[in-house]
Amino acid sequence: MRQSVAIADSGFSRFNSLMFRVESTARSKSDLSGPKRACLLLASFLFALIGCDARIEQFEPNRVFTLALAKSRSIPTEPASEDVSQSLEVLFGTPNEPQWPEQLLAEEGTEDLVDVERLRRAAGPVSSGKDGTHRGLFREHCVVCHALEGSGAGPASQFQDPYPRDFRHGVFKWKRTVRGAKPTKQDLRDLLTRGVPGTGMPSFALLSPDDLDALVDYVIYLSVRGETERRLLVGAVDELDYGDTVPEDDFRIRYPADSEGAGLIEDTVVRVAGQWDAAESRLVEVPEPPDLDAEEMAASIERGKKFFHGQIANCVGCHGASGNGAVVILDYDDWTKDYTTRLGLTPSDREAMQPFRDVGALRPRPIKPRNLQKGVFRGGGGGPDLYCRITQGIAGTPMPAVSVVDQANGKGLTAAQIWDLVHYVQSLGRE
Ligand code: HEC
Ligand code: HEC
Repeated sequence: MRQSVAIADSGFSRFNSLMFRVESTARSKSDLSGPKRACLLLASFLFALIGCDARIEQFEPNRVFTLALAKSRSIPTEPASEDVSQSLEVLFGTPNEPQWPEQLLAEEGTEDLVDVERLRRAAGPVSSGKDGTHRGLFREHCVVCHALEGSGAGPASQFQDPYPRDFRHGVFKWKRTVRGAKPTKQDLRDLLTRGVPGTGMPSFALLSPDDLDALVDYVIYLSVRGETERRLLVGAVDELDYGDTVPEDDFRIRYPADSEGAGLIEDTVVRVAGQWDAAESRLVEVPEPPDLDAEEMAASIERGKKFFHGQIANCVGCHGASGNGAVVILDYDDWTKDYTTRLGLTPSDREAMQPFRDVGALRPRPIKPRNLQKGVFRGGGGGPDLYCRITQGIAGTPMPAVSVVDQANGKGLTAAQIWDLVHYVQSLGRE
């Protein structure tokens, strides 16, 4: 109990604002006598304590996406949001007691994607058992940035650039799978071990392998839960006639039930979990790097430089002639576009952004092409990492992919030419 209250940073701000509200009502009706006022404050304190726990007991609904959907479809989305939240709790449990829809996934054989025991270790308040096992790992290590529900809008997120990831989109940048695919568990484990250099995301190399595995499963859990939420909200509005009111029973988002609505829930969960399950089979094929002596390497770098400036790869268009990233592209990542440009809103228009900011959206920030001269690579600077980056682009960002072709044809680069580019990019960082 003490732990969970101490960790509930947002619970605290809720407490403060409650105190403030109660105090200002008390002041405006200044006939309240001292004892009455003290009673009111005490009552509000107790209420806030309960409130703190209520905040931790449940996942926050995705209010930013609910609002974006309401704007794009010009209809209210509260009834859909309420039903979706209830069903999610049946399927995925709560921050203190996570559940995994094993039965539902068993039909497709994807129930083992995450291990419920690991989820329980990663979830809940921070504590350690007599045998030295840690619990509450996500709250101990990640919540300040990624927030309880994985929205990336934790209390420490505001001043970061890039912002911590919102797992609920199900889109990840630093991985060895093809652009549209989910990362593998190994990708996530590598990421946690390495951290994301040049961003706020630290390395967790010192955690035990068991703790890392538990956190990997928990990230997948939050992501599947959050992506299911987004897809169900869209489905509710586009397929099930949610609007001002809820539709008739057969079309309501409720689980379990023998209805169209429950069918949509099943299909959605199975689909999202299935994509995670398929990640292993979607690895980028990285050919063996060529074995070059110093002279051959120098020639490869020279060729790479030409491709960097050339029409096909056109890396200069964003990274600049010297690779220092000094080109202004004024673009945004997909997480930001979700509540801005995709709705026809200008991210720098404060007034248009205010309703989204009010429900927790972070201030939109343009994405910057990287200064490659610094030699700091967020997704790893090894040859195979950069080969993946160049042939896939970077998911969720404007960085495009270069297609790999068998023979140079003016539309893509051959694997050997991609290696030249990799060598050039690596050489930029060494200069
Ligand atoms: C101090 C803030 C901070 C903390 C603490 C933190 N992260 Fe992050 N995390 C970030 C930032 C910032 C990014 C975005 C990096 C980027 O866009 O390149 C990120 C990105 C990620 C990603 C997405 C990587 C990808 O490929 O797109 C995952 C997964 C992740 N963090 C997991 C975790 C986990 C699990 C923990 C706790 C063990 C954690 N983070 C703790 C700031 C943090
Ligand atoms: C449309 C603009 C655009 C083009 C074209 C582009 N990039 Fe990028 N690139 C970006 C952006 C934006 C980022 C930062 C992504 C991030 O960190 O979220 C980036 C990041 C990178 C990174 C850093 C990866 C890491 O792990 O930190 C490398 C390397 C890179 N680009 C290489 C290239 C190469 C090589 C080309 C040409 C084949 C290229 N880029 C073309 C926009 C572009």
